[in-house]
Amino acid sequence: MSGLIPQHFIDDLITRADIVEVLGHRIQLKKAGREFKACCPFHDEKTPSFTVSPSKGFYHCFGCGAHGTALGFLMEYDHMEFVEAVESLAGMMGIEVPREDSQRPARRYDELFELMQKVEKHYQGELRKHQPAVDYLQARDIDGATAKRFGIGYAPAGWSHLLDHFGSSKEATERLLALGLIIRKDNGQHYDRFRERVMFPIRDSRGRCIGFGGRVMGQEEPKYLNSPETVLFHKGRELYGLYEARQAIRNIERLVVVEGYMDVVGLARHGIDFAAATLGTATTDEHLNRLFRLSDEVYFCFDGDRAGRAAAWRALETTLPQIREGRQLRFVFLPEGQDPDSYVQNNGADGFEKAMDQGLALSDYLVEELASQVDMKSVDGRARLAELARPLVNKIPAGVYKELLLERLAETVGLAAPKLEAILAKDQSKPAPHARREGLSGLRHQSGPSAGKPSIVRRAISLLLNNPDAADKLDVEQLAGVTRPGTDLLRDLIETVQAEPTMTTARLLERWRSHEEGRHLGKLAAVELPESEDFDARAELEQCIAQLALAGKRDRVDFLIEKERLSELSDAERSELRELGQGSAVSG
Ligand code: UTP
Ligand code: MN
Repeated sequence: MSGLIPQHFIDDLITRADIVEVLGHRIQLKKAGREFKACCPFHDEKTPSFTVSPSKGFYHCFGCGAHGTALGFLMEYDHMEFVEAVESLAGMMGIEVPREDSQRPARRYDELFELMQKVEKHYQGELRKHQPAVDYLQARDIDGATAKRFGIGYAPAGWSHLLDHFGSSKEATERLLALGLIIRKDNGQHYDRFRERVMFPIRDSRGRCIGFGGRVMGQEEPKYLNSPETVLFHKGRELYGLYEARQAIRNIERLVVVEGYMDVVGLARHGIDFAAATLGTATTDEHLNRLFRLSDEVYFCFDGDRAGRAAAWRALETTLPQIREGRQLRFVFLPEGQDPDSYVQNNGADGFEKAMDQGLALSDYLVEELASQVDMKSVDGRARLAELARPLVNKIPAGVYKELLLERLAETVGLAAPKLEAILAKDQSKPAPHARREGLSGLRHQSGPSAGKPSIVRRAISLLLNNPDAADKLDVEQLAGVTRPGTDLLRDLIETVQAEPTMTTARLLERWRSHEEGRHLGKLAAVELPESEDFDARAELEQCIAQLALAGKRDRVDFLIEKERLSELSDAERSELRELGQGSAVSG
């Protein structure tokens, strides 16, 4: 097995890569001032809004929001996985990719992955020892080969089974806790999360187990228990069965998104190897990114019940901004009461594929669903359909697909296309390109009324990403005690830049690629900042930090005053409050 690619190599590669050269081989770039422009390769457009900044090593499309480094571009454009992209980029530059041998001390993440793997193997061993669990799988028509392919296991009864096997030390217990495999009680004791359940390991894109779904064998509730969000496991990003699909199929032609673990496994049992399930959450943008990276043909096949149909409509809404020419999306509706698992059991693989072929194209689904909500016989009803379609159509990037859908809609409502377009264009809520950039969905946990505006933290991160040098003299200690969302990330970024003075925008982005926050950084780097001569990024950044420090102080005072009101203030806190100059009832 090859070892890890050292971080310094990736840093170096990113610093030396000429993004203009890499992209220029694939798309037509035109010089425009300090930057280069092109028609965006990720959505259809006639006027170029795709911008490449050679100095920052970064591209961004103001039309569809696509962004990234030279590496990210290879991954998106050439559908490569990260390691492949590194190798390809190094190859273009005539450099060999070094590998670290795995002798070096394991990092925390490695230890967590390792433990997860041990637990997975352990559950698999337990399955063989528990006949009722084997019987259960057999009763559901899962053969040994399929169970093995998906690594299905069993968590036996008992409150401390895992703890007894893997929790011998305090550190080991902490690791189990970090993986969500055990739960801490109020008294500080722990117990196993999964008991008496058939276990489905959830794998990341590299096949490593990052979480589990556990199913009861009887009627107990909940039917499925899932791993919580952990440092390894993010439900909004992972799809159950995607790794297994990639293992089974060399060139994935199409993918079908289903709702449940058993749908994926049941379909695979019948030779439909290209299914993946969202993990009890709605289909997210990130799910779609991962799906489209593997295939341009994506089907949604949810359960034939009210919830399944609602999930399909939500999936449609999420997909609209990602529609591109060449991408095919279909929605498959099963008879009431059926799910993909039961359907394939009853109708076989051929039957299921036939149902897929009969799936509705996205445009048909959109139009038919809206038409069913209005009275198509009346003029008012048809006008109402145009109303309903407006916010949806406006989510679709400009291009051939949108044109076709508009034509289709025009036909349905009985209007000439230009007239319909005029109605749709009246939409004031349609975000101007600039407003859309500012409306970046917040950092994680960012919510509440201020979420739409860039917060100070986000502004600071944008500034820093675009001008890493500007952070070299900042005093991070000022941020101590600031609890605003994203502050930890900001502090990490500042410390990284200060530790490595040659840091660049692209390197920072690549450094954070595999972090939970990484996906926000690209967007924040792409926020347009003034580039005029007198724009002083350093001063701006300092001001942001000062503002944050002040806000942090204010939060702390509010907190202490509230405690004082409840007569819960300790002596130390009382003097802290006095020092902050806000002691209200402090007698002098
Ligand atoms: P379903 O209830 O449709 O289950 O939930 P299923 O896939 O048909 O399972 P079987 O056939 O009864 O075994 C679909 C998905 O919703 C999540 C799981 O991810 C499940 O696969 N779910 C469901 C939970 O997380 N918890 C639950 O209690 C139920
Ligand atoms: Mn089912």
